[in-house]
Amino acid sequence: MKTIIEPFKIKSVEPIRFTTREERIKILEEAGYNPFLIHADDVIIDLLTDSGTSAMSAKQWAGIMEGDEAYAGSKSFFRFESAVRDLTGDKFIIPTHQGRAAEKILFSIVGGEGKYVPNNTHFDTTRANVEFSGAEAVDLVCEVGKHPEQRADFKGDMDVEKLIKFIEETGVENIPLVMITVTNNSGGGQPVSMQNIKDVRAVCDKYGLPLFFDACRFAENAFFIKKREKGYENKSVKEICQEMFSYGDGSTMSAKKDALVNIGGFLTLNNEELAMKCRNLLIVTEGFPTYGGLAGRDLEALAQGLEEIVDENYLTYRIRSTEYLGEKLIDAGVPIIEPPGGHAIYIDAKRFLPNVPANQFPGQAITNELYIVGGVRAVEIGSVMFGKYDENGNHVAPPMELVRMAIPRRVYTQSHIDYVLEVILEVYENRDKLKGYEFTYEAPMLRHFTAKFKPI
Ligand code: F0G
Repeated sequence: MKTIIEPFKIKSVEPIRFTTREERIKILEEAGYNPFLIHADDVIIDLLTDSGTSAMSAKQWAGIMEGDEAYAGSKSFFRFESAVRDLTGDKFIIPTHQGRAAEKILFSIVGGEGKYVPNNTHFDTTRANVEFSGAEAVDLVCEVGKHPEQRADFKGDMDVEKLIKFIEETGVENIPLVMITVTNNSGGGQPVSMQNIKDVRAVCDKYGLPLFFDACRFAENAFFIKKREKGYENKSVKEICQEMFSYGDGSTMSAKKDALVNIGGFLTLNNEELAMKCRNLLIVTEGFPTYGGLAGRDLEALAQGLEEIVDENYLTYRIRSTEYLGEKLIDAGVPIIEPPGGHAIYIDAKRFLPNVPANQFPGQAITNELYIVGGVRAVEIGSVMFGKYDENGNHVAPPMELVRMAIPRRVYTQSHIDYVLEVILEVYENRDKLKGYEFTYEAPMLRHFTAKFKPI
């Protein structure tokens, strides 16, 4: 087998500004030891997120010039609508400015006090929108999905037995819909199998419940199905995507991931009455139904991105580049969620820094050291992000302490990733010297974005 290469040539480049270790120590201190507060220009390799950070293709940039900016009925909307319908088969396609706007509209209508929404694992914004409506968000991922060190092909699967039990106990009338997140971002970017999707569909049919996808990384999920699930090896990724969406009644989508654009999203539905309600709310919050918070040029780039994302040469490179980083880390003994997911590598901070307790934020300690050593920006997904306090003010840790390194699409080359690897290995070799952190400022909600720390 020959090396899997980046399936593109680079036509336009953006310089990286280099900093020294001494400069980075100062920058980090000034940012209150919170990488969210560092200027992006002070970052060498930015793995904070794969969302909205993709490089667009020449054809997408051409689409930016082609965009039809008519307020109503723009040509770009119809191109967008047909690209989304081609994949999802859904009747009503509603553009939004990003994924959480689609979630906000959907859950404002179907959520509310006394309602419960099951998902394999809610992403934070999905959970926030469910809960903001007054409903409760419930995660029912399969058992193996909760164990970073256990390998399985489809760790994003929903636990179907638990789902049935949950529906029986909660009552169908209190559940507006069932949701599946592909791939399961909060659980390590792990895929969901087609079999699991079919099984969940069968449960939904039995109880008369709609099934929705949080479809942000639908193409990466489909590629894993092609590679790992029997019966799909000879199907095209596009056919796999179409089959997956055929089992759903709708979806919410952040186009900032698998539509290769810097901004955009959409909501798809089959139920006309629900679609009308969503459109009415869209007009209040996002805009007229043929642009929904986006410019015509954005819709044009998004439509083009949806064609490029199902290209199997692209997906081969995409999934391989994540796996490449993961494999090298595993070989060096660095604990990560195994196997590597689609869009990111997740370091298991509990095993990486066993001597730093959860209430001293081991993930934050690793994240900060990655920045000091190499200017690499990652994000803590552990006690800083999800930690809570009990009634006595004691810290309650979430089940996992992780550091996510998300890989932007088509942005970095193999040598960038080799550099990241060298940085992680240096941090790992010196892990005994790492110390924990404590808060000096902490906001009451979503504290990870604005928190400030000091080293212990
Ligand atoms: N659902 C999932 C699974 C996501 O990963 C995200 C965003 C959203 C919904 C919300 O989409 O940002 O367009 O409003 N995830 C980003 C991340 C922010 O870094 O993982 P959005």
